[in-house]
Amino acid sequence: MGKRIEGILHMVGGAGETSYASNSKFQEKVLHMAKPILEEAIGGVYMSLLPERMAVVDLGCSSGPNTLEVVSEVLDVIGKLRRSLGRQEMPEILFFLNDFPGNDFNHVFRSLGDYKRKVEEEKGKLLVPYYVVGVPGSFYGRLFPSQSVHFFNASSCLNWLSQVPEGEQGVLLNNKNIYVAETSPLEVVKAYQDQRQRDLSEFLRCRHAELTYGARMVLSFVGRKASYPPWGDMGHLFGLLAEALSALVSQGIIEEDKLVTFNLPYYAPSMEEVKAVIHREDSIVSGKNVVGYMRASFQPLIAEHFGDAILDELFSIYAANISRHLLQQKSKHYQFVISLKKKEKKKEEEEADGDAAAAAAAW
Ligand SMILES: C[S@@+](CC[C@H](N)C(=O)[O-])C[C@H]1O[C@@H](n2cnc3c(N)ncnc32)[C@H](O)[C@@H]1O
Repeated sequence: MGKRIEGILHMVGGAGETSYASNSKFQEKVLHMAKPILEEAIGGVYMSLLPERMAVVDLGCSSGPNTLEVVSEVLDVIGKLRRSLGRQEMPEILFFLNDFPGNDFNHVFRSLGDYKRKVEEEKGKLLVPYYVVGVPGSFYGRLFPSQSVHFFNASSCLNWLSQVPEGEQGVLLNNKNIYVAETSPLEVVKAYQDQRQRDLSEFLRCRHAELTYGARMVLSFVGRKASYPPWGDMGHLFGLLAEALSALVSQGIIEEDKLVTFNLPYYAPSMEEVKAVIHREDSIVSGKNVVGYMRASFQPLIAEHFGDAILDELFSIYAANISRHLLQQKSKHYQFVISLKKKEKKKEEEEADGDAAAAAAAW
């Protein structure tokens, strides 16, 4: 198994000159850009479910001025909607801030007192009761019980892969590049693409299990326009960093071997790559639904003719066939800021009930 970044990766903590807190303007802009989509998604969850208690999660929250931005957004939207609907009931909101255990959670927790006073002043009577807790762990695994979360946000964190991509022989030799570059061997480009695909699939599977029906999530991350991985902006930025490292090798400050074996666990995908993973996961869920219905209806007839022994194998092959079929259906248009809604249970069942093609967006 490759070198996982959990336990190694964390942003620079505290509030000093090189800290993430003092250097997160770019991510702040991303949050600002995604604001209308975030508002629409969180408002949609509240209006459709009107929950008494809401579980809201910010994945990869880091520590800095952006960390409590999502908390503020959600408090704002829910407070205003509650007033416009004239509802007496105060929804209680439980915020979960997630990041790796090495994240400077203490910095975040220390800022909560000031934050509380600030929102009380700003929001006054619109403020609904809320609680904030930290959840250390990787979002490439399960973090919450089944169907317990109403809303997930993930800003500027899904570019990080779960591990440094590897080739068949282990460490990827990448011509002294540290990311996918024009001079990277094809094996390197493919290893990065495969790692992104595996990680995003795992991420979607975990969140699908954790979201309650009708809940949503908003994902924003750096993408690239060009279809060929080395041609993106990030490729250019990391190319210049590789050049700087090479300069230190020339000066004898770092060993060449160290540079040759260094690759970043980071990837900026194209829209097509993201679309393919979402569509694939979507088709797998839909395939399972369709197979569930078909099996429940036709198993007795098939078993009577072919015997019980073949049933599990038959329906497992059938599920793969249905997923493949759904993958060929026309897909929707996706944005790089992606808002996903987990369907209501009834709707998932209806899909299993009829036209398989209509299930093409089952996420
Ligand atoms: C660039 S920061 C973004 C922070 C914040 N969301 C923002 O918008 O400013 C990325 C954060 O994602 C976290 N991260 C990366 N991979 C992660 C994973 N697998 N599980 C949890 N957190 C992760 C990093 O530790 C880091 O704090």
